[in-house]
Amino acid sequence: MILELQRVEKRFGGVRAVDGVTFAIDEGEFAALIGPNGAGKTTLLALIAAALRCDAGSILFAGAPIGATPVQCARLGIGRTFQNAQVFTSMTLRENVLLALAARDRSALAVGRALWPDARSAGAAVTSAADELLARVGLREHALRAAAEIAYPDAKRLELAIALAGRPRLLLMDEPTAGMAAAERLALMDLVRAVATHSRMTVLFTEHSMDAVFGYARRVLVMARGKLIADGAPDAVRRDAAAQSAYFGAPA
Ligand SMILES: Nc1ncnc2c1ncn2[C@@H]1O[C@H](COP(=O)(O)OP(=O)(O)OP(=O)(O)O)[C@@H](O)[C@H]1O
Ligand SMILES: [Mg+2]
Repeated sequence: MILELQRVEKRFGGVRAVDGVTFAIDEGEFAALIGPNGAGKTTLLALIAAALRCDAGSILFAGAPIGATPVQCARLGIGRTFQNAQVFTSMTLRENVLLALAARDRSALAVGRALWPDARSAGAAVTSAADELLARVGLREHALRAAAEIAYPDAKRLELAIALAGRPRLLLMDEPTAGMAAAERLALMDLVRAVATHSRMTVLFTEHSMDAVFGYARRVLVMARGKLIADGAPDAVRRDAAAQSAYFGAPA
């Protein structure tokens, strides 16, 4: 098991955002976490990445407790992308990825040399590592553009490259295709699946778009009001009465 949650709880005042959630994920799984607005999906991902602390319960990553901070979790191999793409808009795409590489390797010197032209040759290896990551997400030709200038789906791809720079074993993606048109959405999910297969990476993603969920996930977990109410193969979850009434039956 790469990830094991036992009776995890998180409250915000009187709101039980995550209410006794237990499940485990095997290495290599490609799983979707779905549920209506406010179900607790983002909160759960934040707990797994240690951006929030559990009020009760435990979270194990590769058999050991997750780190106490997001940085520790990242070093352990837990990567994350956010509901709203988090990139440095004033920097180029390459600089965004270079920063992420620096965070992983702490090779600040080499990265500094890549960022400042007088010492460019010393930073060539790091620069090419950044450009390879950009190539993997289809953004190599935009390496020198400012992140503020690129289209929204490309910012989501950049965020994926930034996450991959940390070489995660487990990638948590919060609504990776939010705000995208259908074709862009499926292109992004194709990319994530290809990258996951290529790097033997486990993926847990939240989504509201059912084509992204049922077209890609091999397992679907359903949350409602903080609780896990269904968990299984996509076809079984689609037929599950509790999942249907909590989610599929909900007005659009
Ligand atoms: N920082 C916070 N402070 C107080 N309440 C919060 C906080 N974060 C989340 N909540 C509440 O916790 C519950 C779960 O929210 P969460 O964002 O995890 O849901 P979600 O499933 O990700 O929803 P969405 O699909 O809209 O993104 C909601 O009732 C929300 O209002
Ligand atoms: Mg959310």
